[in-house]
Amino acid sequence: MATNRTFTMLKPDAVEKGHIGAILEKINASGFRIVALKLTQMTKADAETFYAVHNERPFFGELVEYMTRGPVVAAVLEKENAVEDFRTLIGATNPADAADGTIRKLYAASIGENAVHGSDSDENAAIEGAFHFSGREMF
Ligand code: RTP
Ligand code: MG
Repeated sequence: MATNRTFTMLKPDAVEKGHIGAILEKINASGFRIVALKLTQMTKADAETFYAVHNERPFFGELVEYMTRGPVVAAVLEKENAVEDFRTLIGATNPADAADGTIRKLYAASIGENAVHGSDSDENAAIEGAFHFSGREMF
């Protein structure tokens, strides 16, 4: 995957609340091109692997439970400076700290259930995109 790509998931809470359309619209309006997209549900093993970096944290069990309780929208997004710009668009992990107009400020309920994921580096964006999509599913 090129370094101008990032990976996102609209998390189960955002899907449950019917926010898929509004969030994708905001992503488009912010200049990202959607190059891969699907609705999918992660297994417990998937979530444990995807968030393995947090497996020693006290919230890990809750995080896995949350991320597997329903479908997510997985997507790969392309834009100049995609990783950093997308982190700016989604806002701080805790929506209480997120800037006005960010996706988490608008749609997240709490630090635990915060509506959206964004890769934190080009390297992780490539790993996470490949975790969810084959080469034939990325455009
Ligand atoms: P993400 O990886 O999902 O984009 O979120 P992030 O970088 O902003 O935050 P990170 O530190 O990577 O945490 C991953 C996810 O774990 C949940 N979390 N819960 N209860 C808590 O204190 C807590 N802290 C983190 C959130 O769903 C967070 O997005
Ligand atoms: Mg993270």
